[in-house]
Amino acid sequence: MPANKASQIVPVEEQKLKVEKFERLAQQLHKAKLGGGDIRIKKQHLAGKLTARERIALFLDSDTFVESDSFMAARQNSDSATPGDGVITGYGKVEGRLVFLYAQDFTVAGGSLGEVTAKKICKIMDDAMNMGAPLIGLNDSGGARIQEGVNSLAGYGEIFYRNVQASGVIPQIAAILGPCAGGAVYSPALMDFILMSENNSYMFVTGPDVVKAVTHEDISKEDLGGARTHAAISGQASITGSDEEDSLFKLRQLLSYLPANNMEDPPSTITQAPPTEYNEELDDLIPLNPNKPYDMKKVIEHIVDYDSFFELQPQFAKNIIIGFARLEGRVVGIIANQPLHLAGCLDIHASIKGARFVRFCDSFNIPLVTLEDVPGFLPGRSQEAGGIIRTGAKLLYAYCEATVPKVTVITRKAYGGAYIVMNSKHIRSDRCFAYPNAEIAVMGPEGAVNIINRHDIAEASDPVAKKAELVQDYRDNFATPYRAAEMGYIEEIIYPRETRKKLIQSLDMLKNKRCKNRAKKHGNIPL
Ligand code: HXC
Repeated sequence: MPANKASQIVPVEEQKLKVEKFERLAQQLHKAKLGGGDIRIKKQHLAGKLTARERIALFLDSDTFVESDSFMAARQNSDSATPGDGVITGYGKVEGRLVFLYAQDFTVAGGSLGEVTAKKICKIMDDAMNMGAPLIGLNDSGGARIQEGVNSLAGYGEIFYRNVQASGVIPQIAAILGPCAGGAVYSPALMDFILMSENNSYMFVTGPDVVKAVTHEDISKEDLGGARTHAAISGQASITGSDEEDSLFKLRQLLSYLPANNMEDPPSTITQAPPTEYNEELDDLIPLNPNKPYDMKKVIEHIVDYDSFFELQPQFAKNIIIGFARLEGRVVGIIANQPLHLAGCLDIHASIKGARFVRFCDSFNIPLVTLEDVPGFLPGRSQEAGGIIRTGAKLLYAYCEATVPKVTVITRKAYGGAYIVMNSKHIRSDRCFAYPNAEIAVMGPEGAVNIINRHDIAEASDPVAKKAELVQDYRDNFATPYRAAEMGYIEEIIYPRETRKKLIQSLDMLKNKRCKNRAKKHGNIPL
């Protein structure tokens, strides 16, 4: 018998031992896969929720998930010693691109966070940072695990610290897919985007019971922290999905616009059926009457690649529109005033919404396209008392700080401080275009003549007619794009129909833009 064949014969005892060991592994793996067990899985389904494993399977490309640490368990003296300890961690692919993720398992102590859960999440966060790949959190958690006391608080601290270290280095996205309370909402809050599933996801610092005990207020989970509340009122949710499946699909879509890390450019795609270079419909979209509203989303859709606009926070601060789109396959971040709401004025919420988006795009090398039709900052007591000076300054700061390619199109009004803020030449827009009907001035005609022609109007025999004449005069002389173009503040006055072509040309020219701010530890954005 050849020597190598003899060495393959395994003694019966050894073979038996091996089978036992393999069986034990299979049993342990099975146990770990069950999480909190069949009864709790059924309870999760009855509550209309998927399990953490079902979510991972839906979210990732099929058969790409590689799990880590499925045997890590809480210390034996703890109440819970389930393998995996309430969170599933690992990596996988989305459209063939690497992502790291954790999915909280509500069937184990309500997905609450203990010492080991935190350790598992931190390991995956470190991997994501070291490998330069996005971090995704699928959240469904009752917050700090009460039984583990300060150790669970320590765990949150470790996670928050890493969220901040990862900020601006890798994209971080949280999906909220169940009730998330306490510490479970602060890690998502430190991430770049939050997705919420409608009807069964909630985010609050403390739930309705504690609210009732402390403030005697009766409030439902939905009103306190449901998807609708966070999408429309607090602005916390960037996107909502009609159910978990839709939320996870949108999460995959969002990732398609983002680079894996801050050293990469966003992925460009060959897009289908882009609109023609010249779009005649744009010439008629913007009314000549400056007081007539129009839908800026239609303008966006006529400019960007077919079906490529991915709007964020659509229900919050509707007077400003933000989102990703593609121009000849190249990803851009769009910020646009929306004349349909508050005439497109900048207010507190719009400024914050815009500022955070500008900063995200700048962190991740996504060029900014600004479509501007802004009569000014929203005046009034509530805005002043609420800090419009500070919040407006956030948007100004964000644009001034951004070094990515920045292109502006003034579609109609560009007045006063808001003109400067919305990526004007003076704060380093790379290319600035205006339509022929653009109005660029210190303020709108009505306000201006009320100040500078006050006496002429008062002394006129027909004050109404005099005012109308002065308003027209101001409009003809000041509220045009030509003064700004004479000064070089606008590179080109263009026909609306050629907007797409002009943007594509500019972004192509700007693709190798290199521009750095002065070296510093960090700036002091007016928070
Ligand atoms: C331990 C918890 C838990 C927690 C839930 N469970 N939250 N176990 N620690 N924080 C357990 C429950 O005991 C229950 O176990 C199981 O999870 C499911 O919970 P239910 O209450 O049955 O589910 P549901 O009715 O859907 O309500 C979910 C919930 C609620 C809204 C999340 O459980 C809840 O209000 N939990 C407490 C939330 C909270 O106040 N967390 C703040 C912690 S302080 P059994 O065995 O019965 O199935 C915090 C501070 C960090 O996080 C601060 C950092 C900045």
